[in-house]
Amino acid sequence: MSLPSSVSIREVGPRDGLQNEAVVSTEAKVRLLDALSGTGVKRIEAVSFVHPKAIPQMADAGEVWSAAAKNPEISYSALIPNSKGAERALAAGFSEIEVVVSASNTHNLKNVNRSTDESLDDIAQLIDLLHRNGATAEVIISTSFGCPYEGDVDPLRVHAIVDRVIADGADRVAFGDTTGMGTPRRVREVVGPVREKHDLPLLLHFHNTRGTALANILTALELGITEYDASVGGLGGCPYAPGATGNVATEEVVHMLEDMGIDTGIDLRALIEVAKLAQEIVGRELPSGVLRAGPRV
Ligand code: COA
Ligand code: ZN
Repeated sequence: MSLPSSVSIREVGPRDGLQNEAVVSTEAKVRLLDALSGTGVKRIEAVSFVHPKAIPQMADAGEVWSAAAKNPEISYSALIPNSKGAERALAAGFSEIEVVVSASNTHNLKNVNRSTDESLDDIAQLIDLLHRNGATAEVIISTSFGCPYEGDVDPLRVHAIVDRVIADGADRVAFGDTTGMGTPRRVREVVGPVREKHDLPLLLHFHNTRGTALANILTALELGITEYDASVGGLGGCPYAPGATGNVATEEVVHMLEDMGIDTGIDLRALIEVAKLAQEIVGRELPSGVLRAGPRV
C-alpha cells in the first residue's frame, strides 16, 4: 500500500477546541493562537463567526483575530454558519472560509436552526458570495459518520450532499466525525466513493470520542487523503452533541505520521509545549497520550 509522503494538518484547537471549553479570556485565546503559529503548522482554523448566544466562547472572534500575530506562512481560516457569519468573516479579512452543514437533519436543526435542505440552499448562495469577495469556500459535512440523535447516517446521503455542494462550487469538502462515530469501515464507505468520483481536495475531521481517530486517519491515508484536522492536546468537542469529546490530538497525529516517514512540517516538541499551554489555559488535563508520555524517542 503506498501512502502519501506528506500530509497537511489543520490545527483547529483555537476554534473547535475552545468552543467546547469554559469561556477563556481574549488574551488567552490570542496566546494560544500565537503559540501555535510558531510550531511549523501551515493551517490554523482561528475562530468562528457564529451567534454569540449559540457559542459564547466565540463571541470575541473579531477581537481575537485582530490581536493575533499573523504568520504570513500560515493559512488561517474561519468557520461560519450563515450569511451574517460570512459578512463578519470577510470584514475581519478572512479569505479561507468554512461553511458547515450536517448530514443528519436533526443535528443540523440543533446546530444551525434549519433543515439540511434549507442549509444546502443557503450554502449555494454563500459559496457565490464568498467567491465574489475573493474567498475560498470549504463545505464541512458534520455527522458524516454517524449522528448522536439519529444514529447511523446513510453514506449515500453524504454522497448526495457532496455532489450537491460540488455542483454549487465548493472548493474543498471536509467530512466531520462530530461525535467520534467513525470507524475504518465507515471511512471507506463514506470517503472511498467520493475520492474515486471527484478530484477536488478532501479533508477529514475526526474526534476521538471512541478511540478510533488514529485508525480512521490510517485508513484515510490508504485512500490517498492528505488533509486532516486535529486539535492541540485533544481540546474540543461539540456543544450540540452530548458526550462528544475532543478532536484527535495534533501531537498524536504528528507523532504517528513522522514515525511512518510522512512529513507534516510540524515540530513535535514545540507542539507539546503548546499543548501544555493549552492545558494551563483551560485548567484541566487534556486527553493526549503524547502530551502525557512525551515522544517515543
Ligand atoms: N453572527 C452573529 N449574529 C448572528 C449570526 C452570526 N453568524 N447569524 C445570525 N445572527 C443574528 C441575526 O443578526 C439576528 O439578530 P437580530 O435578532 O438582532 O436581528 C439573530 O441572530 C437571529 O438570526 P437568525 O438568522 O434567525 O438566526 P437563528 O436564531 O436561526 O440562529 C445560527 C442560527 C446559525 C445563527 C445559530 O444557530 C448559530 O450561530 N449556530 C452555530 C452553532 C455552532 O457554531 N456550532 C458549532 C460549529 S459546527
Ligand atoms: Zn469538530
